[in-house]
Amino acid sequence: MARAKVYVSRVIPAPALDIIRDVAEMRMWDREDVPPPRDVLLREVADCDGLLSLLTDRIDDELLARAPRLRVVGNMAVGYDNIDVDAATRRGVVVSNTPDVLTETTADFAFALLMAAARRMVEADGFTRAGRWKTWGPLLLAGQDVHHATLGLVGLGRIGSAVAKRAKGFAMTVLYYDPIRRPDLEGSLGIEYRTMDDVLRSSDFISVHVPLTAETRHLIGAEQFRMMKPSAVFINAARGPIVDQAALAEALRSRTIYAAGIDVFEQEPVSPDDPLLALDNVVLAPHIASASIPTRTRMATLAAENIAAVLQGRRPPTPVNPEVLAPRSSG
Ligand code: DGY
Repeated sequence: MARAKVYVSRVIPAPALDIIRDVAEMRMWDREDVPPPRDVLLREVADCDGLLSLLTDRIDDELLARAPRLRVVGNMAVGYDNIDVDAATRRGVVVSNTPDVLTETTADFAFALLMAAARRMVEADGFTRAGRWKTWGPLLLAGQDVHHATLGLVGLGRIGSAVAKRAKGFAMTVLYYDPIRRPDLEGSLGIEYRTMDDVLRSSDFISVHVPLTAETRHLIGAEQFRMMKPSAVFINAARGPIVDQAALAEALRSRTIYAAGIDVFEQEPVSPDDPLLALDNVVLAPHIASASIPTRTRMATLAAENIAAVLQGRRPPTPVNPEVLAPRSSG
């Protein structure tokens, strides 16, 4: 029987490539810095049984229609808003993501953004390097306290919960809003459930941890920034379109809020003309919250394991549309 074919849409850590090569003939877009252009992706998937995709690849009905043999899309991310999962399900294509393996690393980075924005770390670095430091000053680069402050989490999934644990180490009060209330976690993490508006009004730090869906697009806009304290620090390491980015830039410019730490943008890469880039009260990063070498390696191998499992007729570890899989026998 002919070997299955898998396309990998970027250079990814070698252990993941080994997993794919063991089960299939592999082709790969051989660049790390940019995704394959759309026409290349469409051409490459045409004869493939599996696709290892990144969040920069749009996997929509058009692509699925051009890939009649496709059985599995292993997305190397926990988020899968780049994929039309309903279309994949209709066509019987398994979609998988990479939950759990990136939770702690992403929470570390969200907390790093929080601390960097509160304590003006990036400004301080630039100030020191530029030779602007003349003397110790009573309020030189003074920021906001993190310890004993109140953190408001919008979304209490895996990553939100992991951020809450870090906050507790800083003696913070933690409030959360999530459409699904979690009394079990309220007890074990020592956190309090509030309405979304109350979280926004009562918190010194607000960190967003929801997936991007039709309901969460622009969940945070001008009205929500106006509810926040003028001393509030806003963090987004989830997905850019959850926040109205123009409203965020205006809230920072007008000092409606104090500062922000932003890892994700409405358009990625962010335009060099974006007003956020001209502001010094925001710490910016290029969507790297999960980017530690061990975690990116685990994400890549998990995506590859999902593909290998489907191609070998085994149950994949982390499908997002398990209804596509053949039901397990009850006997
Ligand atoms: C994800 O996994 O969804 C992140 O945004 C990239 O780690």
